[in-house]
Amino acid sequence: MEISERFLQRQGQTSPFPFLLEIERAEGLYIYTTDGNSYMDMIAGVAVNNIGHNHPRVVQAIHEQTDRHLHVMVYGEFVQRSPLNFAEKLTSLLPESLNCVYPVNSGTEANEAALKLVKRVTGRTELVSFRGSYHGSTHGSMSVSGNEAKKEAFRPLLPDVRFLGFNAIDDLNQITDKTAGVIIETVQGDAGVRVPDLNFLQSLRKRCDETGALLIFDEIQCGMGRTGKRFAFEHFGIIPDILTLGKALGGGMPIGALVASQKHLQQFTHNPMLGHITTFGGHPVVCAAAEACLHVMQHEIDFKEVERLGALLENRVSKSSEIMETRRMGMMFAFDMESPERVEKVVKKCLEKGLIAFWFLSHPYSFRLSPPINISQEEIEKAGAIILEAIEETAV
Ligand SMILES: Cc1ncc(COP(=O)(O)O)c(C=O)c1O
Repeated sequence: MEISERFLQRQGQTSPFPFLLEIERAEGLYIYTTDGNSYMDMIAGVAVNNIGHNHPRVVQAIHEQTDRHLHVMVYGEFVQRSPLNFAEKLTSLLPESLNCVYPVNSGTEANEAALKLVKRVTGRTELVSFRGSYHGSTHGSMSVSGNEAKKEAFRPLLPDVRFLGFNAIDDLNQITDKTAGVIIETVQGDAGVRVPDLNFLQSLRKRCDETGALLIFDEIQCGMGRTGKRFAFEHFGIIPDILTLGKALGGGMPIGALVASQKHLQQFTHNPMLGHITTFGGHPVVCAAAEACLHVMQHEIDFKEVERLGALLENRVSKSSEIMETRRMGMMFAFDMESPERVEKVVKKCLEKGLIAFWFLSHPYSFRLSPPINISQEEIEKAGAIILEAIEETAV
């Protein structure tokens, strides 16, 4: 039996049309398949491989940790150097108020923990989120996600969730002293790269301060250098009460993190004790990779280049008259076309030409790009040329 048939039979699928590339290895921008082809990974595992595939520093950190020990204990009961080094490194890159880290295993779990924490800290129940948002696929994170079509089959979800318009300043007065927390993607990813106005985010911060609601920034997709700064909130001059991270944080390993003040995170230690727990959260091998990835982001990434090359690719691709609108921040791109069918043709043609682009879950009119942020100018130029060819060759 063909390996792809075995894959379709034995591994649970989430769509009727998986890409079916059979992977041999990956390095930097490139993925190599078993049939001898190579692909420019312009999606980076969907905003995961921000420093490229198999960064040597990350791989070395993993090897060193596997030589020492793997899992030894649950819930952070033991002192282990790797998660501690990771927490110290991460908090050293963040403002003083975000000084404590609880590591989990995925982005959605970080959001679950954040939603619980805001209830625990405030003693309130209402959660506020924004239309268009994506916060994950578990019951809690899905409850605060905006895509109605994806939620319908799984109701009932969490009660007491209120949705406001993203970027709608007038809606902010619906945040009240009943609101435990407000969760927002600092830059909406899945909605097709929606960058909020400075005034909107600053007003949101102000409204949360006025009402005592805690502000959660979900930077699972837009954090870790993706927008051209280490963390997206740095563009807006405000600081959240809670920051959730995931995806690129592990340098290719599975991780999520809840970052807050130590005072707030302490709430999980009592009433009830073990207020949020996970067996594998803070896994030493994963944390070693994450610390290495943070080191790379701190010392090897030139953020001026991220912005310059991001603008270069935006200009190249948006030259096509078939691109109707482009939204970009740093290396996070959405290119709108006239129809989802047109987008699908372009994504497929790119794949035939050895370049991986992708769709958005909630915005089928765009194709998305989120390449490694340390991509070179030569690679950007090559990718831009391939995408333009793919658009031209699929035009009717
Ligand atoms: C903004 C945002 N939040 C949360 C998640 C969920 O993260 P994970 O898939 O690691 O559970 C994602 C994943 O795409 C995301 O983009």
